Amino acid sequence: MKVAIQPGPSTPVWAELAAQAERLSTTPVSELFNRDPARFDAFSREAAGLLLDFSRQRLDAPTLAKLCQLADAVGLRRRIDAMFRGDHINTTEDRGVLHVALRQPAGAAIGGADIEKTVMTERTRMLAFAEGVRSGNLKGSTSEPFKLVVNIGIGGSDLGPAMAVQALRAYTSGAPRCAFVSNVDGVHLAEVLETADPKTTLFIVASKTFTTLETQTNAHTARAWLAKHLGEQAVPKHFGAVSVNGKAMDAFGIHPEYRFQMWDWVGGRYSIWSSIGVSLAVAIGERHFLDFLAGGHEVDEHFRTSAWAQNLPVLMGLIGVWNINFLHLPTLAVLPYDDSLRRFPAYLQQLEMESNGKSVMLDGKPVECETAAVIWGEPGDNAQHSFFQLLHQGTPRAAFDFLLPARSSCGNQPQQNLAIASCLAQAEAFAHGQSAQTVRAQLLAQKMPAAQVEELIPHKIDPGSRPSTIVLFEKLDPATLGRLVAVYEHSVLTQSVVWGINAFDQWGVELGKKLTSELVPAVLDPSGSHTAPGPILKLLATIARWRGVTP
Ligand code: F6P
Repeated sequence: MKVAIQPGPSTPVWAELAAQAERLSTTPVSELFNRDPARFDAFSREAAGLLLDFSRQRLDAPTLAKLCQLADAVGLRRRIDAMFRGDHINTTEDRGVLHVALRQPAGAAIGGADIEKTVMTERTRMLAFAEGVRSGNLKGSTSEPFKLVVNIGIGGSDLGPAMAVQALRAYTSGAPRCAFVSNVDGVHLAEVLETADPKTTLFIVASKTFTTLETQTNAHTARAWLAKHLGEQAVPKHFGAVSVNGKAMDAFGIHPEYRFQMWDWVGGRYSIWSSIGVSLAVAIGERHFLDFLAGGHEVDEHFRTSAWAQNLPVLMGLIGVWNINFLHLPTLAVLPYDDSLRRFPAYLQQLEMESNGKSVMLDGKPVECETAAVIWGEPGDNAQHSFFQLLHQGTPRAAFDFLLPARSSCGNQPQQNLAIASCLAQAEAFAHGQSAQTVRAQLLAQKMPAAQVEELIPHKIDPGSRPSTIVLFEKLDPATLGRLVAVYEHSVLTQSVVWGINAFDQWGVELGKKLTSELVPAVLDPSGSHTAPGPILKLLATIARWRGVTP
């Protein structure tokens, strides 16, 4: 399992980049624009229907050249090729990483002919099923078409489809409504069932392992609800599933034609392209689902074949490395200016933080630098009216990605135009800020007394030089969403190679799962005798008291 790696910090170019950062950390972004009037042309790239404007990042041409050298020095090309070949680059689980095979067109043979064949077979089955549900040809146990599809899953089995169904709402007309249930506390499911009619409800249990506590619990509650209303015999006609775990699907009673295969070479957070996306396929239909896959594949080809300096995912990844490791900006705010993308930051949180939230390298040694950024965000306008104040003038500092469509996704271009203006204004404000001189001139022009002006100036200065990238695209359509997701996926891979880590395992989440299963008996039966740490037993005693249960 030991792997030979060349992590960024042990390459000579790392120290050169540190010197660049030293040089640039005192150079305001405005100054970079003053020095180079053609800065937009030098630091923006258009490919695969996306325009990446990174001219407001705190870097210049020598920095960009060194970052590209870094990509060479860490062996990024080898790693990309290995992933597309299906090599077991997920070494701690001894698995290939082939989400790129899921969005390939027929004949591309990504991952090999056998994998292509199995992907195509399953894709065809899943799309036929989704079309049956969408058109109403596939009916429930009372011969009524489905009006509600409830995806029960969590993490990668929820965030991707939930984000995409929301993002592509404009393409869902005529489809049954899709709802997503993930949390274990029951509230989420109760809310959905409150207005659901069992006769017209289809549940999809999406779970790669089919063992996840939250998903299993919600699925069994939903099953009991359905059986109570329609009888046990109705269950097979109201439950579909996606998993690698055939036995568990058998045990649950999933009908063979209502179940779809996953593979161990697809990570949960990379699985939206597989049958895990069945709810998305129901919502947007086959043609649009295929457009979504085609958008992802277009970016795969661009990623695989473009030079680093033109390569959008590589540039995005390297800019992230620059901000995190050299400018010491540990967080990235993701700010969509189309409300349909409101779940995109949450989706990216899992993609980036579960992938690259590691502190050990592929060779088992501790990492030599900071790794993944903390990802957070909100639709941009909401953010402007809540936390942007801190980003403009507070002490914590962040980098930003603005996601900006040119055209409205709901046919309201006049309002989208205002969103465009807001986004561009914020990018400018964060980059250039506002100096004491400007503030002074403005206040004096308003006839404010000079003494009062001087008192107010420190409060109105905006330091600027908050680095941002604008990801501009024509419209939020299925192909564009596919491109966006694929760009971020490959940016994650790029960063993982620089840091020498495995972006495809997630061992850190296992401990909490194990402890939960150990604590469940103590919570369920407070009167029994249980071994748990003292402070936990004390909390459980209070919980039992407040639940009205005598321990
Ligand atoms: O706990 C984390 C995780 O394993 C994610 O990686 C995964 O996407 C999620 O749980 C759900 O897992 P499953 O699809 O197996 O239910």
